[in-house]
Amino acid sequence: MTDPGSGAFESGLDATARSAASPADRSLTSAESSAIERAAEAALRPRRLEEFVGQGVVREQLSLVLDAASARGRAPEHVLLSGPPGLGKTTLAMIIAAELNAPLRITSGPAVQHAGDLAAILSSLEEGEVLFIDEIHRLARPAEEMLYMAMEDFRVDVVVGKGVGATSIPLELPPFTAVGATTRAGLLPSPLRDRFGFTGHLDYYRPDELLTVVLRSGQRLGVEVDHEAAAEIASRSRGTPRIANRLLRRVRDWSEVRGSGRIDLEAARAALVVYEVDERGLDRLDRAVLRALCERFAGGPVGLSTLAVAVGEETETVETMVEPFLVREGLISRTPRGRVATPATWAHLGEESPDPSAGASPTLGRF
Ligand SMILES: Nc1ncnc2c1ncn2[C@@H]1O[C@H](COP(=O)(O)OP(=O)(O)OP(=O)(O)O)[C@@H](O)[C@H]1O
Ligand SMILES: [Mg+2]
Repeated sequence: MTDPGSGAFESGLDATARSAASPADRSLTSAESSAIERAAEAALRPRRLEEFVGQGVVREQLSLVLDAASARGRAPEHVLLSGPPGLGKTTLAMIIAAELNAPLRITSGPAVQHAGDLAAILSSLEEGEVLFIDEIHRLARPAEEMLYMAMEDFRVDVVVGKGVGATSIPLELPPFTAVGATTRAGLLPSPLRDRFGFTGHLDYYRPDELLTVVLRSGQRLGVEVDHEAAAEIASRSRGTPRIANRLLRRVRDWSEVRGSGRIDLEAARAALVVYEVDERGLDRLDRAVLRALCERFAGGPVGLSTLAVAVGEETETVETMVEPFLVREGLISRTPRGRVATPATWAHLGEESPDPSAGASPTLGRF
């Protein structure tokens, strides 16, 4: 069986499954991972379901699906994992194969350009194999249709030859388990969604869960991490284990070079000051957006593109990489007239929210 945790194994995925990296100054707090980072991540991945922290509901449901299938001696039903980046979809897919003691094949929506590519993968599957399809919402239409049939009837039609002489040969497939991962479950066509027997939706982690992630990762990295330091890192990690692990690695750098090598609260705080990640997990760009909103536009309402120009970023960057977390945190509010600051925004910047009688946003009535 291929080792699901090996860095070399995963690097095959990097070239095909991933598109552009995040802008350089977002590398610390972005939930996406770069190709280089994935090797570091592989070393920190939990290998078994019992090591997988948090997501209690999904874990319990999944363990029932897997145990029941194992007891019957059959491949489990197909599994769909959905949720934002960095929450553990790939990790869970690898765990599924490990728990079933089954071989794992990895591909991704963008890597399957033609139905023929998928046919080649499907027709070489072994009995019981787990086929992980990352970014499954990005599969091309013909491949998607082939997958419907493969998932439901364990059969594909392989087209041989071209033009008028082309014939289609039905091919039986051994029973296998498809595991699809998507950050955009809403984009999956319902016929595809319906072919998954179990869908697990991963949600953001609680700080106490991330604390456990940080402590375990510290052990794996061979570095001593105090409880308070782990809590500090966890609380700045935006509910995302990928970010928690990344901040931990940066704090470890700091403590090895400037500190004692041990990670205590002081080291965690000092390192995160250097890396400009504040106590709510906001980075420089997040704060620049909030500051522009409050200081230049008096708390709004202001249009997104105006806000983006004010911080010297593309509108799309602000919309997709900055704003969602700020909205989630209640630090920006979206209104039909534009983006507005909330009392929490002013508080976070350490500023007084303006007096409504001063006329900054008289119609909003929220200050
Ligand atoms: N529940 C968890 N417990 C411990 N570590 C976790 C957990 N979930 C994720 N991680 C860690 O976070 C990192 C990112 O997880 P993973 O690659 O599985 O995310 P993903 O959901 O597949 O992200 P993407 O959408 O970008 O593909 C992994 O290196 C893993 O170590
Ligand atoms: Mg993934």
